[in-house]
This record gives sequence, structure tokens and C-alpha cells, in this order.
Amino acid sequence: MDRILAINSSTSGEGSVSRALVEDTVQSLLAANPDAVVTRRDLGGDPIPHLTPKTVAGIRAVAATEDELVTKSLSDDLIAELQHATVLVIGAPMYNFSIPSSLRTWFDHVLRPRVTFAYGESGPEGLLKGIRDIVIQSRGGLYTEGPAKVIDFQEPYLKQLLGFIGITDVAFVHAEKIGFGPEAREAGIAHARSQIAAAVAQIAAGGATFPNQAEG
Ligand SMILES: Cc1cc2nc3c(=O)[nH]c(=O)nc-3n(C[C@H](O)[C@H](O)[C@H](O)COP(=O)(O)O)c2cc1C
Repeated sequence: MDRILAINSSTSGEGSVSRALVEDTVQSLLAANPDAVVTRRDLGGDPIPHLTPKTVAGIRAVAATEDELVTKSLSDDLIAELQHATVLVIGAPMYNFSIPSSLRTWFDHVLRPRVTFAYGESGPEGLLKGIRDIVIQSRGGLYTEGPAKVIDFQEPYLKQLLGFIGITDVAFVHAEKIGFGPEAREAGIAHARSQIAAAVAQIAAGGATFPNQAEG
């Protein structure tokens, strides 16, 4: 049975492209696998706190104070959600050429030494295994081709963050040119939907490695 963890990080509500596509993805996964269980986390609407001098030791050292213990407990919960998931769906709008700060803060809480990654003799090793991930990237502009390709700090960054904790089977979905007028927006969303359909079909067929990750 699949266990789906769906994460949103858009600060927009009803009109959010990534939120709509995350929900489409979840519904398609459920259609293919009606027994799947869904857990949702809305980082955009209900952000988790940034780390501060009062809290950072809770996840990077030994938690001792009340603030540090609260932070460790939140980090433990977020990591448990991930460890429990077989399929991860992340809605990641492009904000200032990268990811929303709410999503970055989530990564600050789930990249934990000796829990989700460890350093061995051959360097860092990701400790999360067997999670397939669909990442939905909504963007105002065009970054998969053309002059702005070199300033896409979103996809390489997400690939690094996820890979660092062992999530290497990732399908990257692109909803681009959302800010280029209604026609371009619809075309961008339609393209993303076709990428989602392909990724979901692959998971439903047994979850082989996504082609774009194998190439990357
Ligand atoms: C704070 C902020 C920063 C943004 N930065 C970029 C950017 O650097 N490049 C870009 O193409 N679009 C940028 N956008 C536009 C969003 O990526 C675009 O509107 C996308 O659809 C947002 O996803 P959402 O509809 O799920 O909220 C930005 C939007 C916001 C709110």
C-alpha cells in the first residue's frame, strides 16, 4: 500500500498553480491506488518556524532547553512523516530563482545528521530509501530552455537537497510561463499535467526509476 506525503509551499491560496497540480497528482495516485493513505502538510499556509540561536541546537546538537526540545520534536515529526512515506509529492513554486523560504525551512528540519544523512568513509550518505518523489515546479517564466536556463537555482537545488537524504528517484514537473498571459499559462499547466500523468503511470506500474532522474 502506498503512503503519500503531499507538501505545499505556495503562499498563494485558491489561485495557486502548484497547489492545484499537487492535488491533481494526489487524486491521480489515488485513482491508480485507491488504498493509498494521504498525509498533507501546508508549509505555505501554516509555516514552520525558522531556526534561531535559541532553537538550532535542537536539531544540530543535543537538545537541552525547552525551545530546543520543541524544535527537536517538530523535526522528529517531520522526519517521521517522510520515513513513513512511499511517495512524496512536493509543490515548489519558484521564488526568486529558487524555492520558497517555507520549503527551505522544512529542509532545515529534515536534513538531520545521523538521522537522514551520515558521513561515512566515502563521504555523505542519504539514509532515506525507497521514496519516489514528484516535484511540481511552477514558475512565472521559462527556465527549461532559453537564456534563463542558467539562473534556474530551483531544480538543481531541490535535486541536491533531496539526493542528500537519499531521495534520488525524482520526477521534476514544470509548469512554466505562468506569468506570460492566459494562453501561455494554460499551455504551461497542460504540459505539467502530461508530465504528472507519465510520472503517476510509472509509479502505478511498479515505480521504476523516473527517466529524467536516471539521465541526470
Ligand atoms: C515571492 C515571489 C517570487 C517569485 N520569483 C519568481 C522568479 O524568480 N522567477 C519566476 O519565474 N517566477 C517567480 N515568481 C512567480 C511564481 O513562480 C509563479 O507565479 C508561480 O505560479 C507561483 O506558484 P503558485 O501559483 O503555486 O503560487 C515569484 C512569485 C512570488 C510570489
